[in-house]
Amino acid sequence: MPNGTFCAGESLGTNIIIRCVNGVAGPGNCNDNLSGEPPIGNFPTTCWQTSNSSGDAACAAGPMGSVVRLRAAEAEMSAPLLRVSQVSRWFGGLRAVDEVSFDLNGNEILGLIGPNGAGKTTLFETISGFMRPTKGAISFDGRDITGQPPHRMARLGIGRTFQIVQPFRDVSVLENVIAGVVGPNREAVDPRREAMAVLTRVKLHHRSAALARNLSLPEKKRLEIARALATRPRLLLLDEVMAGLTPTEIDEIMVILADIRRSGIALLIVEHVMRAIMSLSDRIVVMANGRKIAEGLPAAVAADASVIEAYLGRRHHGPA
Ligand SMILES: Nc1ncnc2c1ncn2[C@@H]1O[C@H](COP(=O)(O)OP(=O)(O)OP(=O)(O)O)[C@@H](O)[C@H]1O
Ligand SMILES: [Mg+2]
Repeated sequence: MPNGTFCAGESLGTNIIIRCVNGVAGPGNCNDNLSGEPPIGNFPTTCWQTSNSSGDAACAAGPMGSVVRLRAAEAEMSAPLLRVSQVSRWFGGLRAVDEVSFDLNGNEILGLIGPNGAGKTTLFETISGFMRPTKGAISFDGRDITGQPPHRMARLGIGRTFQIVQPFRDVSVLENVIAGVVGPNREAVDPRREAMAVLTRVKLHHRSAALARNLSLPEKKRLEIARALATRPRLLLLDEVMAGLTPTEIDEIMVILADIRRSGIALLIVEHVMRAIMSLSDRIVVMANGRKIAEGLPAAVAADASVIEAYLGRRHHGPA
């Protein structure tokens, strides 16, 4: 292969993913397709390249290990799974979230980034029903869900994790997940078996008998994901599940999240770990001071002057 480069291709729902596994600058031939699919095409391996439904290609500089996505026409034409329209949440005079709008498509990974206090968690609270928006509307799968309570959101298919992990500390890992499997108005033929399957997906099955409070931080983060997955979501909201983890532990979570998306679940991810969010996300929304300041492909957002000014200039080149 030219320049010693190679790519791994895989099909994720309506997306075709090409992961630039290794390589050097210059054009590379994506003909080493680990999934056994036919070669997809030639791409510069150090570039982030996308193709829209009409086949036009756009390319912007992206880091090694970045992901190339070719989105099929159906995904772009279908209605969004989640629509956030002009949502605001005020605390007295503080506009924690201020008229934020965006769409999230089914089977999409949307990253939500921004500096501390930008309003990301508050926005999550409104989408998952833990807080009513002060203004604006939220729809899920075409139906208005604005202000619905959390249990209703969960039943509709919106699962979430919490920035501060919140397991039942004095019961086992397995029982924590079973509580999600058999939540309000949910039936399960074999909750134990279903919970073990979820634990296997997040690679925590070997700790099923441990008390939640005895887990390490990376294990607690994976339990948090498992508890949300147990509710059988169609959309999973993840709030800083990589915070405090080592690079290796972050890599492990990234594999788990890619696997979750492969199973057909859309993801809205809040994360400060730029390496991970930029590589996992199809698109990125950036917030600062409660407002959306940018939205677009990861490479375009990373190059946006207002985003660098508000956030990335301080964080993007850090150890994360
Ligand atoms: N319950 C609350 N009451 C009053 N103010 C709040 C409340 N929750 C959040 N805020 C304020 O709203 C603003 C946005 O906070 P939020 O937690 O949503 O930010 P964030 O983007 O998630 O930040 P971080 O990256 O640090 O987690 C902050 O100024 C915060 O102090
Ligand atoms: Mg937060």
